[in-house]
Amino acid sequence: MSTLQVSVWRGAASGEYRSYEVPRHASQTVLDLVTHIQRAIDPTLSYRFACRVGMCGSCAMTVNGVARWTCRTHVAKVAENDRIQIAPLANLPVVKDLVADMSGFFDKWARARGQFAPSATRKDEFARVSPASPERREANAGIECIGCGVCYASCDVVSWNPDYLGPAALNRAWTLVNDVRDGAQGERLRAVAGDAGCHACHTHMSCTERCPKQISPTAGIAGLKRAAARAALKGEL
Ligand code: SF4
Ligand code: SF4
Ligand code: FES
Repeated sequence: MSTLQVSVWRGAASGEYRSYEVPRHASQTVLDLVTHIQRAIDPTLSYRFACRVGMCGSCAMTVNGVARWTCRTHVAKVAENDRIQIAPLANLPVVKDLVADMSGFFDKWARARGQFAPSATRKDEFARVSPASPERREANAGIECIGCGVCYASCDVVSWNPDYLGPAALNRAWTLVNDVRDGAQGERLRAVAGDAGCHACHTHMSCTERCPKQISPTAGIAGLKRAAARAALKGEL
């Protein structure tokens, strides 16, 4: 039976890569490798997953230097000379081994005013939003984000400036800027227009290249820049 040499980050901020020999199988995913190590070789290995089918985003890790959903990454696509290196997501503190601390990532969603703010009451009629309206189409383009952090881990600006809100939070803000039912538009634009907001993005597009949901945070961030500029010209920021 052929095997793979799998090098896995062990520890927290300080630690080391440890190497494990894992049997190779057809259609094996990177998450299968991690699961094999934890169940058959070293039960102290910590990692995170839930759905195994690309729906929850919790299995995101760095594979050979690139952020990916490990449950949807086939070993055959990423193995180099029968070797794979697996690390936790970049740009986030490490809790242990392959588990990144996502709290700062989601705190930034809150800072970007990523929560829907209803403007109607239960006594009002249901809002009617045409699927063909430009706002609805813009919102649809980013709405399928599942908060996996792959884009965030791939963004150079987050690496240089840990205060930067990052592609996922800004993509979320853009979907809400285009939600005609939302009542916090001014507050949200002010939240994303600061130094650590949309204007810090240098349009390198790593987020868009890496997003497993084919979302383009870069396009949403460009939309935020335009909306913030318009608001500034009107003296609304
Ligand atoms: S935009 Fe894509 S890569 Fe970023 S958190 Fe959402 S689903 Fe993940
Ligand atoms: S386009 Fe902007 S948000 Fe996306 S990776 Fe580049 S700097 Fe980061
Ligand atoms: S385990 Fe849910 S996306 Fe991979």
